[in-house]
Amino acid sequence: MRLIGTIAFGIGLWLIGGDLNPAWAVNPAGYGQAGGEFDIRIPRVPASELAKAKAMKPPFEATPDILEEGKQIFLGRGTCFRCHGKEGKGDGSAAKILPIKPRNFTNPRFKKLRTPGELMWVLKNGSLGQTGKVPGTGMLPIVGQFLSEEDGWKVILYELSLGESHQP
Ligand code: HEC
Repeated sequence: MRLIGTIAFGIGLWLIGGDLNPAWAVNPAGYGQAGGEFDIRIPRVPASELAKAKAMKPPFEATPDILEEGKQIFLGRGTCFRCHGKEGKGDGSAAKILPIKPRNFTNPRFKKLRTPGELMWVLKNGSLGQTGKVPGTGMLPIVGQFLSEEDGWKVILYELSLGESHQP
């Protein structure tokens, strides 16, 4: 196990390159955790930024038009479907090669446990997993890179709507 941890850590160092953060100078606990997604109960926003993240609100309501636009971004230029799957179940084609499973947005708990502002924080900063110490979860910063903030809000509202329509 120690060897595997060392290899994972090595890959982590390789991913972050010269930008070494001392917070990562430990084995990234949970890397490649068996059984799929990381724990949904644990926020992805660091505690010090959580209140600020939750205070961010979408500038528009989740009307049918906005949800349709969000869906087009999800399936189109946002490329979200490649990892999160066409239906948002976390089963996209690229998910197979990721060490951590992409979030399944059809899980009704997703909408219950997350505020839109927290999701915007992840879209802007990426996710370091439930420990905050896993470089390269695959969820990289998107808003400010290739999506505008407005498009980010549309796709967030769409993702949050998926849990409602889910038929088990
Ligand atoms: C390269 C693969 C990949 C792509 C592309 C991708 N994601 Fe992710 N996403 C992930 C992974 C893996 C996680 C899980 C990270 C974790 O558990 O911390 C994740 C997590 C998230 C979360 C956080 C969920 C939570 O529990 O708080 C949000 C929000 C999200 N993705 C939105 C998006 C949106 C919107 C897009 C498209 C604009 C997108 N993702 C594209 C891989 C991807």
